[in-house]
Amino acid sequence: MDRTSDSAAEFGGFEPRVALASLSGAADARWALAASEFAGCAFLGGVALDEATRTAARALVARDREEFLPAAPVAFVESQLAALDDAPIRAGVNVRSTTLDPIRDVAEVCVDHDALLELNAHCRQDEMCAAGVGESLLRDADRLCEQVRVASDTGATVSVKVRAEVDGVVLPVLAPRLVEAGASVLHVDAMDSESVVGAVVESCDAFVIANNGVRDRRTVREYLDDGADAVSVGRPSDDPRVLRRVREATDAWFAGHQRPTRSAERR
Ligand SMILES: Cc1cc2nc3c(=O)[nH]c(=O)nc-3n(C[C@H](O)[C@H](O)[C@H](O)COP(=O)(O)O)c2cc1C
Repeated sequence: MDRTSDSAAEFGGFEPRVALASLSGAADARWALAASEFAGCAFLGGVALDEATRTAARALVARDREEFLPAAPVAFVESQLAALDDAPIRAGVNVRSTTLDPIRDVAEVCVDHDALLELNAHCRQDEMCAAGVGESLLRDADRLCEQVRVASDTGATVSVKVRAEVDGVVLPVLAPRLVEAGASVLHVDAMDSESVVGAVVESCDAFVIANNGVRDRRTVREYLDDGADAVSVGRPSDDPRVLRRVREATDAWFAGHQRPTRSAERR
């Protein structure tokens, strides 16, 4: 498919402004469909794409974590996205790779399915960090930006999942570099530093998804008041009671604030 990647200012977002955040080994097409009444976007995965990250994923499984380890990761992503082609939810896929070719391949699959490609600069497990992916990418901005550029050059809409509270990493400094490299979406796990969301919002014109502890009206309002364009739910993403609360609070907030996307406002 011939298209150019949405720049940060062009990304139109999704409705409702609730995303489902990846849960390795659990976040597949079925998971996304089950929550599609409550969310506008679902980040499948994370999926380890190359040998180094697959070796790390096997080590995680050996200590009882769940991981997707299909024989052919890109074909797996393709089949999962195909299952969501007609679903009422925008798909995304969260990936880890030390090498660029599989990122390019999976980004092209995302283009074909109008899905977001999310680069994982977030996982903190030792095995992933030792392989040079996950949060360790936050300390290697040149390499992370190269991943963003390769994905974005395919025409895919690129999200980067980042985490706050990583020593030596200043997210509002990193964020504009990621946008400059081609990222349209920044998916920010604020940890216990909720104010980082507002600082990232101020630093760049990405569509910002706020993550961590989004469970109810109070937590939704806190992030949206700080300028986030959307919120996301991870651990309770299989709990319709939490998802309904979050969707209702998000819809109510936007109904009361008449704010489309910040990026749309700038057009
Ligand atoms: C079991 C588990 C697996 C996870 N796997 C991934 C992953 O593969 N990629 C990723 O970016 N985040 C992953 N996360 C992080 C979540 O997407 C989310 O950022 C985090 O749980 C905080 O959001 P929450 O408070 O809504 O759960 C995982 C979290 C858990 C608990």
